[in-house]
Amino acid sequence: MQARHREYWGWWPLLPLYPYGRRRTLRRELLAGQLWAFEQLQGVFAVAVPIRMLAVKLRQGLLLYAPVAPTPECLELIRELEANHGPVVTIVHPTASGLEHKVAVPAMARAFPGAELWVAPGQWSFPLRLPLSWLGFPASRTRVLFEQGLPHSDQLDWLPLGPVPLGPGPFFEASLFHRATGSLLVTDGLIAVSDRRPELLELDPRPLLFHGRESGAEAMDDCEERRVKGWRRLVLFSCYLRPRAVEQVFNRFPFRWRPGWQRDFEAISRQGALQVAPILEELVFPRHRYLMADWLRRCAQLPVQQVIPAHFEAPVAANSATLLALAEAWQRGDEPLGGENLSLLRQLNTRLEQLGLVPMGES
Ligand SMILES: [Fe+2]
Repeated sequence: MQARHREYWGWWPLLPLYPYGRRRTLRRELLAGQLWAFEQLQGVFAVAVPIRMLAVKLRQGLLLYAPVAPTPECLELIRELEANHGPVVTIVHPTASGLEHKVAVPAMARAFPGAELWVAPGQWSFPLRLPLSWLGFPASRTRVLFEQGLPHSDQLDWLPLGPVPLGPGPFFEASLFHRATGSLLVTDGLIAVSDRRPELLELDPRPLLFHGRESGAEAMDDCEERRVKGWRRLVLFSCYLRPRAVEQVFNRFPFRWRPGWQRDFEAISRQGALQVAPILEELVFPRHRYLMADWLRRCAQLPVQQVIPAHFEAPVAANSATLLALAEAWQRGDEPLGGENLSLLRQLNTRLEQLGLVPMGES
């Protein structure tokens, strides 16, 4: 099959994100014979960063956590695992609010008609409230995590993060601890970022080269320096919507970076240390801070050896002490890493409150 067909994702108009109808999938074995990542690029206006699905080996077969688009290539890579490790028995859609994780779920469920589908509670659609079956979720084999039970609880621990009420619906994430490997799977709650660039972007560096320029007139010639710069800027964009250091908006080439933006990247990366995702810190948890601390403490009670988020680096070495330290820093209300970068998120937050789209923050 030609690459164009193997990477085709016909449902992309549901959520028109770069790279639209073509989406390459990379499979990485994170823990031999136990845990695999499936990565695809996803983004808006060439701010493309990888999104990750995880496949976990259970006694009964495979569990897919946070499905990505089931392109022919992606399905082929899953079928290869099935041949060696058993069928996909369970598909988990772990978030109520992360649309980027939701859009591919019904198609993935259709690709595995024998699998049970478990979804996070509080699913909502925007702008209209629609029942799950209208969104393509198969009613007969879809169940709601925590409300209708928890799958494979002899091998997995399930940890709810939320719900946090937001305007259109709640924020909620179901994290999963895989006892056999000491792996904590999270969706959007925690991230780790460093200068290590995702392989997908090394293979298709166009987004890096686009953002690695100082002006639209500059050529997108490929060189290490431009890739490094482009990656750091992509990180700032995807973590902060619009970073502090971006100065002006142009038509064709929208971004001009002020001096000092590199320090902003260093502030967020800290060489890949695990942290609460900045966007959650500002938009979701100002209202219910205790929920995040509580979740971190409950995670810390488990014998965690690594955390595997759906975005940026994975796996990230971490243990109870790491998670407890995060909980304590969170509770102390340490100034968020990104300081001034968060101003845009704060403005957005205030605006959402003014519009009545989210409840007012706790004082
Ligand atoms: Fe996400």
